[in-house]
Amino acid sequence: MKNRNTISFASDNSAPVCPELMEALARVNSGATFGYGNDDHTRQMEERFKDLFQCDLRAFPVATGTAANVLALSVLTPPYGSVYCHRQAHIEMDECGAPEFYTNGAKLVLLDGEDGKIAPTDLVAALSASGAGVVHHVQPAALSLTQVTECGTLYTPDEIASLTDIARSHGLSVHMDGARFANAAAAMGVSPADLTWRSGVDVLSFGATKNGAMAVEAVVFFNPEEQAARIKDFEFRRKRGAHLFSKMRYLSAQLDRHLEGDLWLRLAGNANAMAARLKDGLSSCPDVALLYPVEANILFARLPEATIDRLETEGFLFYVMGARQNGQVRLVTSWNTTADEVDAFLSIVRQTGA
Ligand SMILES: Cc1ncc(COP(=O)(O)O)c(C=O)c1O
Repeated sequence: MKNRNTISFASDNSAPVCPELMEALARVNSGATFGYGNDDHTRQMEERFKDLFQCDLRAFPVATGTAANVLALSVLTPPYGSVYCHRQAHIEMDECGAPEFYTNGAKLVLLDGEDGKIAPTDLVAALSASGAGVVHHVQPAALSLTQVTECGTLYTPDEIASLTDIARSHGLSVHMDGARFANAAAAMGVSPADLTWRSGVDVLSFGATKNGAMAVEAVVFFNPEEQAARIKDFEFRRKRGAHLFSKMRYLSAQLDRHLEGDLWLRLAGNANAMAARLKDGLSSCPDVALLYPVEANILFARLPEATIDRLETEGFLFYVMGARQNGQVRLVTSWNTTADEVDAFLSIVRQTGA
């Protein structure tokens, strides 16, 4: 087991880079290549995405999930447009206004919905009241869905399709924030194609950092012929937004290795399995409540305050959400979380009588 001080359920981005990706970095770390993505590693990475998603596409590496989201949104909406998203969406809560900044002021329209998921009826109601075509109102431009949601739940392909059908019928494009797309794909055992373009997604922020990579995500455009103008726009915006990496091979090599031999699914599968173990253990504790269905690698639970205190004293890292006396915590498992770590956490919870 790792040193107790390093047992973290704080976030999957608190985990280290996985050895396979460090090796991939070492492998490409010799000789010269052209910069800015004009290299064989980047071309190979894009081919790998095409194989995985079983379609033609364009894939552009960037360094953060925020960059992926906001650069994607910047080509889906005009400055006077609006992006429909869940009230708890990362683009609303945790991106410091970057969506508004990169879109030159487009508006986020917030939708409620149980367990972090937008309900089709709410989307229809919001779009019906949007004032489309009226010069006084922002114009509906895009729908953004998060998979895995911020509550740790999943959209099935059918649920995605019913939302994207509504979006499409109102002339909106569809973005998916897939910071934890791997966890969703691994949990559902559904093909990446079914979770995206076959269900009506136009642009995907494909996350890798939370799943064992070092600061790399990809913006993936499906139907590149149809989206040619957007893709061109994206390339200029990425450069202007300072996310065109000169040493691109290091980002591309990680994405390429991530997808090779299903490594990405194996890493995410471990995180999901450890979350399931944590869920099973916590479910048997009478004073612990799980706040949302546990479907991937994020759990929200209510614990007695004394249990939180003890876990922190023992050196476990995790976030307490809101007022401490409410006892709400977020627990996130990672590609390298072990059963021993989960059991050590559960043992402390049980020792406090929770
Ligand atoms: C749902 C979601 N989207 C996007 C991100 C990307 O964030 P960052 O810009 O920190 O890489 C995160 C990270 O916490 C996230 O949870």
